[in-house]
Amino acid sequence: MDRIRITGGKKLNGVIPISGAKNAALPLMIASLLTEDDLTLLNVPRLSDVSNLRRILGNHGVDIMIAGKRNGDDPLSGANVRLSARSISDTTAPYELVSTMRASFWVLGPLLARMGEAKVSLPGGCAIGTRPVDFLLMALERLGAKIDIENGYAVAKAPSGGLKGAEIDFPKVTVGGTHTALMAASLANGTTVIHNAAREPEVVDLADCLVKMGARISGAGTSTIEIKGVPHLRGTHHAVVADRIEAGTYAMCVAMAGGDVVLQGVKTNLLQSAFDVLTEAGVNIEQTNKGVRVSRNGNGLKPVNITTDPFPGFPTDLQAQLMGLVTLADGTSKITETIFENRFMHVAELSRLGAKIHLDGQSATIEGVPKLKGAPVMATDLRASVSLVIAGLAAEGDTTISRVYHLDRGFEQLEAKLAGCGAEIERITG
Ligand code: UD1
Repeated sequence: MDRIRITGGKKLNGVIPISGAKNAALPLMIASLLTEDDLTLLNVPRLSDVSNLRRILGNHGVDIMIAGKRNGDDPLSGANVRLSARSISDTTAPYELVSTMRASFWVLGPLLARMGEAKVSLPGGCAIGTRPVDFLLMALERLGAKIDIENGYAVAKAPSGGLKGAEIDFPKVTVGGTHTALMAASLANGTTVIHNAAREPEVVDLADCLVKMGARISGAGTSTIEIKGVPHLRGTHHAVVADRIEAGTYAMCVAMAGGDVVLQGVKTNLLQSAFDVLTEAGVNIEQTNKGVRVSRNGNGLKPVNITTDPFPGFPTDLQAQLMGLVTLADGTSKITETIFENRFMHVAELSRLGAKIHLDGQSATIEGVPKLKGAPVMATDLRASVSLVIAGLAAEGDTTISRVYHLDRGFEQLEAKLAGCGAEIERITG
């Protein structure tokens, strides 16, 4: 298994191109199931989660072409992917495929809407919490689906005339639930209103693409979305929105290591809450016409007090990274996690580098220390593992991170992007 070695203490200077968002690319690829025509997605990040989803969609009969080979191409640019679900050959998503990635459960809505039936394995456990799918099933049942749980599978059937528009009221903001409802309701008969919808930019990106495909959707980006169902959707071209979590992560890398970097292709409004927190911590953030410029030169880091929340709040997907950063703040920070119940696995690993963190239920108190010292550490999940990279950039000596396959799920060319700005970082294969 690959490891990543970082020798801390180098400032970061230069430009980091921000990839297309993993969390937008996955539902957009799944939306290809809704049409017989070609859906072409531009700027799809080259990640293991994307490859996994290709396998899952391939199993349903989706023909997938990747345009542009990496050789001769800009190695940091995303791929153009053409997905063609002319006919769906299989409406079952088996356990072996779904268990590798939770978001693959989202195929249930579009399969049901287009084919009238689907059988999708329940995604099972997840390192960061139980992450149930009850809201997703509830949304589809509101649209008239009959769903039984049989042998670990959700077996769903649409009524004989197809799904029917309905009012869907989510008890809690759910990104996957909103994606599922959006896709299924787009092909339902009549009007659907989603209340307490997720407002994440990735939801807006999916809605924008569905509208280009002929869907009639209004209100995406607010907590009430209205969808007037149409009988067919067509193909389109769509560029995946920039990855705000990747951008926030590199902003924290610069904040930690010091230096001056432009995060190319991203705008502050995608991630205002995190940039506000960084500003409060003493980091300079400036929107330029090339992207967001992040710099910290000389001054220390101030402690912060944050709570994770759905968009536009501070994202849970940046909680671990922020914790990595404030381990070196001049004072005590507090971070409270409200979205997932077990998202503190990075605490034990950060402590191995010398961080002083006290956990109390869903809150962590981080007492800033003057320095971290490099050590071997282990990646435990996608976002937790990158918090170790952030800490390693400032730790004295070498930090070696094992199980980096977690990182490969969500960070395209991480070592190349950081090394391009002066970090001493390398992948040790095997
Ligand atoms: C998505 C993101 C993930 C991010 C999360 C929250 C993708 C591929 N993943 O995950 O990176 O951390 O949003 O911003 O886009 N819940 C239920 N029942 C359900 C569904 C969710 O109780 O049926 C709960 C979850 O356990 C969690 C909360 O609702 O506590 C939010 O989860 P949700 O927004 O659905 O997360 P995902 O869509 O899985």
